[in-house]
Amino acid sequence: MDPAAPEHIVLGIETSCDETAASVILRQGDGAGRILSNVVFSQLDDHAPYGGVVPEIAARAHIAHLDTVLEQALADADLTFADLDAVAATAGPGLIGGVIVGLMAGKAIALVQDIPLIAVNHLEGHALTARLTDGLDFPYLLLLVSGGHTQLLVVEGVGDYTRLGTTIDDALGEAFDKTAKLLGLGYPGGPAVEQAAARGMSGRFDLPRPLLGRPGCNFSFSGLKTAVRRAAEQVAPVTQTDVCDICAAFQDAVADCVRDRTQTAVTEFQQRFPGTPEPVLVVAGGVAANQALRQRLGQVCGKNGFRLVAPAPYLCTDNGAMIAWAGAERLALGLIDQLDASPRARWPLDPDAEPAPGAGVKA
Ligand code: KG4
Ligand code: ZN
Repeated sequence: MDPAAPEHIVLGIETSCDETAASVILRQGDGAGRILSNVVFSQLDDHAPYGGVVPEIAARAHIAHLDTVLEQALADADLTFADLDAVAATAGPGLIGGVIVGLMAGKAIALVQDIPLIAVNHLEGHALTARLTDGLDFPYLLLLVSGGHTQLLVVEGVGDYTRLGTTIDDALGEAFDKTAKLLGLGYPGGPAVEQAAARGMSGRFDLPRPLLGRPGCNFSFSGLKTAVRRAAEQVAPVTQTDVCDICAAFQDAVADCVRDRTQTAVTEFQQRFPGTPEPVLVVAGGVAANQALRQRLGQVCGKNGFRLVAPAPYLCTDNGAMIAWAGAERLALGLIDQLDASPRARWPLDPDAEPAPGAGVKA
């Protein structure tokens, strides 16, 4: 790295799902980064009555809140638009209405301020966050587990990703949310399932572990969702104890699957990069907040001499800092975009990876 390289102040805008977020970060010439502000407006209350995110409501809410969130991000950083060196906006993948709102705002700022625009892949934001928080070098292994994606990737550089595995049906966060909905625990389901699981006994229900022990690193969670429904039907009417026991069994089953799939990916990483002195597994995305999952991943890392890096939960769930940071990394490499950059509902990090048809945009 060139310590004499210029430092950059970058504004990041995130609107791909149900968080309206903006952040200002500083990236120094030596590659170190600092978050100057990080504002997240969660639309949870707008979507809660529907038990999930409603795309049209999300897009309208982004329009309603983005200006305020942007103003707050600049105010918290004690800066104005004139201080920015670049603006980065999520250009996909995600709910297209929301993506358009954020990307168009980014384009307007870039045009008026005459600064570069960086159209950021939301998944690259998640993938590079650990370089902002922990100053990691390439390569590293990444487990990305969110409401929209479940992937294992080798991260070799900015824009250089090899997908080792993906879900072939539901994303892990989606499986948590559907389980919660089935058991009447509300949205978002992940934290509610984790809390209920802490009070339950996992041995009471025997749930399947899809793809466990199979070759490759793909995931499958839709069968588990069906098994949860059957378990609930078996004991209906479901009591509080039943809910806790089913949640414990579900969480145990998914953690087993993730441990098994990650072990396969770790082995593959070791074969590809045999001399890596301190290999790292990064876990990112909203589900990375789950303690049972972190514990299983810690076991895999301990067994294989890997270090587990998990950014703080507020940087694992969707935020503007991860978009600003990915933008700053791209800017430092001269990777900027034109004002005709397109919003994309689907945008795989590894375009050469085989499609997983059942996963749609999640693959
Ligand atoms: O990364 P994220 O904020 O948004 C997406 O890009 O999807 O992830 C949200 C997902 C939701 O499905 C939510 O239920 C899940 O992350 N989640 C959790 C936990 N906290 C959030 N899942 C399991 N355990 C948790 N503690
Ligand atoms: Zn995300």
